[in-house]
Amino acid sequence: MKIIGSIPEVKAILRPLQAQGLRIGLVPTMGALHAGHLSLVREAKKHAEVIVASIFVNPKQFGPSEDLTRYPRDLEGDAKKLEGEGVGVLFAPAAEVMYPEGHQTGVSIGRVSRGLCGDHRPGHFDGVATVVLELFSIVRPDVAVFGEKDFQQLAVLRALARDLHLDVRIAGAPLVREADGLAMSSRNVYLSPDDRTRALSISAGLFAAKTAYDAGERAAETLLGLVRGHLSASGLVPEYLELRRFEDLAPLDRADAPSVLLTAVRVGSTRLIDNLILRRP
Ligand code: PAF
Repeated sequence: MKIIGSIPEVKAILRPLQAQGLRIGLVPTMGALHAGHLSLVREAKKHAEVIVASIFVNPKQFGPSEDLTRYPRDLEGDAKKLEGEGVGVLFAPAAEVMYPEGHQTGVSIGRVSRGLCGDHRPGHFDGVATVVLELFSIVRPDVAVFGEKDFQQLAVLRALARDLHLDVRIAGAPLVREADGLAMSSRNVYLSPDDRTRALSISAGLFAAKTAYDAGERAAETLLGLVRGHLSASGLVPEYLELRRFEDLAPLDRADAPSVLLTAVRVGSTRLIDNLILRRP
């Protein structure tokens, strides 16, 4: 696996492969890789012959009081994991490479970036869309894979690709959980043992709602009430907890159409997000 920090170098490697007709799959990440990220690589391999992963902790998607400086970083460990999955190129640029002096262009995302995480992280999705568009310009992937864990982000990036007529297929990959139900996240390392136990109420609440849905319950109020009950038993109050339509994230009162329960919860100093898709088998 080649580890590259320079844009001309990554282009010089990829363009001849593209000219030969090889399909490129891109897996953009911020590093601190876990099994969820590696499942994105496996998904990319279904659609492409050459897999490019990127690791870049993107300053433009962090608010001033967020965790940019303490975000976990382990380039060496990440590189080993990616190599083990058959990734051909790891693009790991410095901030000055992606945002050199004079960089002044950004993407602004509309409706889909409002509500949910968008209301609590102003500018976050514009920052995500800007860096992903840069990565797309550099790599020119045929397919790019993102996790459904960041469900709203996936909707934002689908809108980016559709609205700007990008020749890239955006593929989603299912959220991956720890054996005890906690959604995998690079931020889980911040949790104290006590926080981690309390955080289990998030997935437990979502699973309880899913059980009720499978038994025929469709009312948002009831489904959300089940999640809220588990959270409050652990002393947690969600930042948001909503039922939205799977297709386009429109707010829903009932889960008659395929839908998704989405939540963000602050556990100690750590903000966790989770979601669960509700649809008939
Ligand atoms: O999901 C992430 O890790 C990031 O938001 C992404 C898509 C790599 C953009 O920085």
